[in-house]
Amino acid sequence: MLFSSKSETHAVNLLKRDHRLVEDLFRQWEEAPNNGAAAKLVSQICQALVIHAEVEETVFYPRVLNALDKEDAELIREAAVEHGTLKGLISLLNGASPNEPMFCAQVSVLQEYVKHHVQEEEHELFPAAERTDLDLEALGVEMSALKRQLEARVADEEAPATSGRVNVVDVATPVGARPRGRPVAHGHRAA
Ligand SMILES: [Fe+2]
Ligand SMILES: [Fe+2]
Repeated sequence: MLFSSKSETHAVNLLKRDHRLVEDLFRQWEEAPNNGAAAKLVSQICQALVIHAEVEETVFYPRVLNALDKEDAELIREAAVEHGTLKGLISLLNGASPNEPMFCAQVSVLQEYVKHHVQEEEHELFPAAERTDLDLEALGVEMSALKRQLEARVADEEAPATSGRVNVVDVATPVGARPRGRPVAHGHRAA
């Protein structure tokens, strides 16, 4: 398509906008002094990532998985595995202080890993999703609603900033309690 007719809430636009926001926060972190400002930025980065991952895992990935052919469906499974690694890095950072010797290395590795994951999504997965007949406009509306709900939950549960440490509210729904479909990691195409 030469000219995009996608709206602001089109699923792919929504996800790309989150990607740009996180990239911008990482850039700010690179320039921030390694103190409470870094802890705050890293909290924002991790929080944005867990909300984004939850929206992808509970709405975007399962819907797209069912619409893709067998080969492209592997892209979703790989992305879901990568989310697991990203969450592992985020849990290492949650509660950490910028004074700790591993802090910068952990944030840098998270940044590199996010960059890799975002490239795969934007260059392979999203184009594959756009080749299906899924209504990505309607899906985007659903995803925005979930994102707003999760953001409200974070605002409610967020602990007051404590002594310059990273603070991330977990918004992940336990896999068994997810509202629809199978967990992506064990999913398969609809027959
Ligand atoms: Fe993403
Ligand atoms: Fe993702």
